[in-house]
Amino acid sequence: MDKRAIGVFDSGLGGLTTVRELHQLLPGEEIVYFGDTGRVPYGSRSAETIVKYARQDVAFLRTFDLKAIVIACGTVSTTALEVLAAENPMPVLGVVAPAAQAAARATRNGTIGLIGTQASIRSGAYERLIRQENPGARVLAQPCPLFVPLVENGRFRRGDIVIETMVAEYLAPLKEAGVDTLVLGCTHYPLLEEVIAAYMGPQVRLINAGAEGARAVAEALSRGDALSPAAEGRYRYFVSDRQADFSHLASIFLGWEVAESAVGQVDISRY
Ligand code: DGL
Repeated sequence: MDKRAIGVFDSGLGGLTTVRELHQLLPGEEIVYFGDTGRVPYGSRSAETIVKYARQDVAFLRTFDLKAIVIACGTVSTTALEVLAAENPMPVLGVVAPAAQAAARATRNGTIGLIGTQASIRSGAYERLIRQENPGARVLAQPCPLFVPLVENGRFRRGDIVIETMVAEYLAPLKEAGVDTLVLGCTHYPLLEEVIAAYMGPQVRLINAGAEGARAVAEALSRGDALSPAAEGRYRYFVSDRQADFSHLASIFLGWEVAESAVGQVDISRY
């Protein structure tokens, strides 16, 4: 058993999809969340910049006493996981391998769609991991650079003409190719799950990278006998931009109240 907190980070709000699932699976855990809302999106940046930002995010989180760090971001997981794991003494867990494994096992017709940020798709990491598990799988990858800014601006609901149009534009080739499984390879995308499911239809299985990552964290902590004995966890949130925007959207995404006063602001450039 280990009472220390789990540090979770993302470029913005997307990592809350991992926090939501961690809350379901491990309600006694203490979570320290950092969303780099002042520098989101990461996915359109170079690998060098993503690694630099991720190192700063981890340096901030390590000012807390942590038992593990969760990279609740597809982009950082595809681009910086090895570097971060090598540089830090605690387990550093990402969302990409768990999502790739789930997709490789879920497909029936062997045709898997993959959506993610430009950096994640460019890295080829999801395809590599899917083929390791299922060598015959065909993976059709589509970067969706406008999804993260739209979600960060609250444009994720069904009936929103802008997001519905973008979903149709990005996903049409995957739908036409007959994918039966679609990896939501960025942790912001589960917030679009309803819009995406309505467009792709009920026959397409959606794989949520945020939730798969959380399941892998629960398994790793349980295997290492590092679960918290507490009945109820504690949640602390930090961002690098305005707290008010975060607390409003975080309350909607998580389904519980995140008061503005509960969100700290961090000058991440100092780390
Ligand atoms: N949630 C991040 C991911 O999973 C978004 C990256 C971005 O900021 O572009 O990839």
